[in-house]
Amino acid sequence: MAGRIPSEFIDDLLARTDIVDLIGSRVQLRKAGKDYQARCPFHDEKTPSFTVSPDKQFYHCFGCGAHGSAIGFLMEYDRLPFREAVEELAQRAGVPIPDAGDTLPAGPDHGPLYALLEQAATLYREQLRDVQHAGRAVEYLKSRGLSGEIAGAFNLGYAPPGHDFLLSRLGATAEQRERLMSVGLLAESDGRRYDRFRDRVMFPIRDRRGRVIGFGGRLLGDGKPKYLNSPETPLFHKGRELYGLFEAQKADRKLGSLLIVEGYLDVIALAQFGITNAVATLGTATTADHLQQLLRTVPEVVFCFDGDRAGRSAAWKALETALPLVTGHQSIRFLFLPEGEDPDTLVRAQGAEGMSRLVNGATPLSEFLFDHLTDQVDMTSIDGRARLGNLAKPLLDRMPVGLYRDLVSNRIANLTGLTTTPKSRSAGRRGPVVSQRPMRLSLVAQAIALLLDHPELVTRVVEQADDRWRRSSNPGIDVLAELLDMLAAAPGLSKAALLERWREHRHFAYLQRLSVDSFLRDIAEEDVGAELIGALERLSEEAVKAEHSRRFNLRSTTDWSPEERARLVCEARSARRRSDDPDE
Ligand code: UTP
Ligand code: MN
Repeated sequence: MAGRIPSEFIDDLLARTDIVDLIGSRVQLRKAGKDYQARCPFHDEKTPSFTVSPDKQFYHCFGCGAHGSAIGFLMEYDRLPFREAVEELAQRAGVPIPDAGDTLPAGPDHGPLYALLEQAATLYREQLRDVQHAGRAVEYLKSRGLSGEIAGAFNLGYAPPGHDFLLSRLGATAEQRERLMSVGLLAESDGRRYDRFRDRVMFPIRDRRGRVIGFGGRLLGDGKPKYLNSPETPLFHKGRELYGLFEAQKADRKLGSLLIVEGYLDVIALAQFGITNAVATLGTATTADHLQQLLRTVPEVVFCFDGDRAGRSAAWKALETALPLVTGHQSIRFLFLPEGEDPDTLVRAQGAEGMSRLVNGATPLSEFLFDHLTDQVDMTSIDGRARLGNLAKPLLDRMPVGLYRDLVSNRIANLTGLTTTPKSRSAGRRGPVVSQRPMRLSLVAQAIALLLDHPELVTRVVEQADDRWRRSSNPGIDVLAELLDMLAAAPGLSKAALLERWREHRHFAYLQRLSVDSFLRDIAEEDVGAELIGALERLSEEAVKAEHSRRFNLRSTTDWSPEERARLVCEARSARRRSDDPDE
């Protein structure tokens, strides 16, 4: 793992980046007042409601609610993980990313490790050509129907029996043995080191750039474990790598779709039949990381699973992993194979056409979701349909806000018989759909929202100096205080940079949403300062009042001093006045 990126660096990077340039390079922007507008890239719309603010360095769509900084935009639009988004911006700005220092020494040189893995792959491959020793392995591959050509394309090899095939060839020095160990080619027990892979057909695993980073090895017959994979190493992370992705991209530079299968031999058999776009996870379930990579590479992903119970439940897990990533811009589908078949056996029995027909008929994610949910409840009863709604709710919550989610949500509503559609979507009304919160924001939330949207207000708050609101015990007051302290220490942060500092915070998503809350739009630009100060003053008043009443409650009223009595009367009066005020 690379080290954490210091937040000062992020501040600086965002200060050097112009979000208008960045987004403008991907979406056609038009100037509108001091902001820029476009048709939203995150949902379908005819009239532009996507706005980019150079002042705030922030984008926001009034239509679908999408919003964020330059980093957030790259994460959403280019589907990059946080770190890669930062790297991309750093590259644009021409600044190197500093190393946090504590986790990894600056840029460890993995060159010798890659070289070693490549040498091992070559040695294994040569073994397969050695007629004298590799007869059994070649026989095995033939028995599995593999051609010499496809074995060559995937660089298959053979690790002979014996404990020191690699050790004796590549482990001449202590340093080399150490390296063999760290890339997982040696195993160790009782202080002795020996070849991890013995008497197995070897599948080199390559990263996207084609470098060998690990191996899978299959026994020639029955036995356990059938497959042995490289352990996690500095170069090899099962949760991130996909077998066959390099080969698939090499076969077709403009891949339109990828098929996710389970096994090495599934990938290879499909390729042998001309279906060169299959990849396999490495004995693990598909992770969000895997999926993100794939969706960044192709517009369509088809998961391939066994048709049995285990396959269905694995598919459901994959769906749950996929939910946060479904925007409707890509297609995710599920293919359930006939029981007892895997892609390897299927393509051999039915040919490429048979397989392609199945792929074309794969079930879209939304269909699978509806089917899975309706299977669990009795759709003929009200109770059952209510349960459907309850089952669907947490799943919908995990999907990104946007048109796709709305469509799925509408469909669920139809299925349950609740035909109400979200009111905020009613045609023609130019209103926010972000805030589906019927209640007004609390005072604390208002203050936070104002400050997030206008970080420059910090100077006015500091000048004002009345800090009594800090004594309030209202929920969120700690966040408000932290925000202000952060800004006081670093005035000049843009809205985007300020929010980025909260990315790791558990309330990050909520804070981002607050920062674009519709209540902000009702306040004229010149009034925001007064509004914030007003909110803080009211919080201060409330805090003091709460302290008083706490104190008073502890004593009988006869113990009150005349001043306390007078103040109470006065406060009660003003409280009454306020509650009469309809705006309150
Ligand atoms: P399967 O057991 O489904 O086998 O494992 P398969 O791919 O059909 O293999 P063949 O056809 O019998 O040769 C699917 C995948 O799960 C991982 C491997 O990545 C394998 O390709 N696996 C399986 C292991 O890592 N270890 C094992 O012992 C078995
Ligand atoms: Mn198989």
